[in-house]
Amino acid sequence: MATGIPTCINSNVDDDLSFSLNYNGKNSKEDIINNTSNADVQQVIGITGNPENRLYFGDNLHILRSLMGDPKIFGNVKLIYIDPPYAKKARFNSRSQEHAYSDTLFGSKYIEFLRQRLIIMRELLAEDGSIYVHLDSTMAFPIKIIMDEVFGEHNFRNWITRKKCNPKNYTKKQYGNISDYILFYSKTKDFTFNQPYIPWDEGTGNKEYQYVEEKTGRRYKKVPIHAPGVRNGETGKEWRGMMPPVGKHWQYTPEKLDEFDKKGEIYWSPTGNPRRKVYLDNSKGIPVQDIWMNFKDAHNQNVKITGYPTEKNEEMLKQIVLASSNKGDLVLDAFAGSGTTLAVAETLGRKWIGIDNSELSIRTILNRLINGSEKMGDFIENRKKKSLQTELFANRILMSGLKVYVDSEVNTSLDELNTWKKIVE
Ligand SMILES: C[S@@+](CC[C@H](N)C(=O)[O-])C[C@H]1O[C@@H](n2cnc3c(N)ncnc32)[C@H](O)[C@@H]1O
Repeated sequence: MATGIPTCINSNVDDDLSFSLNYNGKNSKEDIINNTSNADVQQVIGITGNPENRLYFGDNLHILRSLMGDPKIFGNVKLIYIDPPYAKKARFNSRSQEHAYSDTLFGSKYIEFLRQRLIIMRELLAEDGSIYVHLDSTMAFPIKIIMDEVFGEHNFRNWITRKKCNPKNYTKKQYGNISDYILFYSKTKDFTFNQPYIPWDEGTGNKEYQYVEEKTGRRYKKVPIHAPGVRNGETGKEWRGMMPPVGKHWQYTPEKLDEFDKKGEIYWSPTGNPRRKVYLDNSKGIPVQDIWMNFKDAHNQNVKITGYPTEKNEEMLKQIVLASSNKGDLVLDAFAGSGTTLAVAETLGRKWIGIDNSELSIRTILNRLINGSEKMGDFIENRKKKSLQTELFANRILMSGLKVYVDSEVNTSLDELNTWKKIVE
């Protein structure tokens, strides 16, 4: 029975049963950490403010490796969200048909590309940190096995399914593909997690909490006061002349149950069966589950976007950043794209580091942080900057400091560099 509550069998894990993904070109963890060279970066832009966030232009492998040598970063990153290429064998252009990035690695080369970065990112994570890896069905399965190897199967938290777009009119002989996946792992078992809730709407709230207390008018539902499993302690003892049902224990000690009853929070059925009253006004809502239906990407909606391809839904990033970090924590996105994670982190008072090796990405991020983005991704034109002063200020996302670095291994044209500088002037 797939949805039943299973009884756990305590068996010692036999090492011989463990498995891993093997392929040509798989390097050892030690080799990756010890033999990956540091990036040689130069600061090209500085915006004064506190905290000082960082945006890097270059290959994230070497930049991430350099961050391992930075005591402010190493072991201090609370949250990593990455949305890497998905092995689509495709080029991605912006809405204005400018080249953004190519997604050409596939098979074992793709797996090793991502694995190398995951191994280094794990080193950067704080002990109570978490990582979210966004993928689609192309590579999610092999990367799950790699994540189990790198972070430990016991640190796997969720395989989140996200509805990414509206239903498609498929002409192929298969079901429409409207989902992608986010693999959520923590570094250890003690990780930051602020449980998100979906607030009750009147209809569902009233349906779920169907009883109304006569004296107070409070809505409540009745829930059992016992749970599966036999206990020998207090919760396995008699309460009000009753033992817990066979194979079960009380959810609370008899003393606590007495307290509930005194406050009128136990409902006694006509046959003498006790149930606990759980009140709607004490409920924060429905805890968010692992299927996310409300975060479609913005390309066909009338909402603000940058025009960078594969830009992710800001509200989805808000949910992740709020759940897995607190104000002042450090957030990292090493495949920053249009900077959705960075903009959200900035808005929510987190420190952040972004990395990308696409010129258009860096330009887009700077534009987004300084000038905001407009409906369907039309950047606010530079020449209107003066007349739109108030609106621009309202749109400006960056309120703290920022340093932009370029890796000496990548070629940035002087024109592009000047464009970036003009954006922040
Ligand atoms: C799917 S997009 C990320 C989109 C982003 N989540 C957003 O909301 O806009 C992937 C990004 O990874 C970047 N990228 C790919 N390989 C990289 C590498 N080796 N180093 C740094 N960035 C890389 C690409 O340039 C691209 O911007």
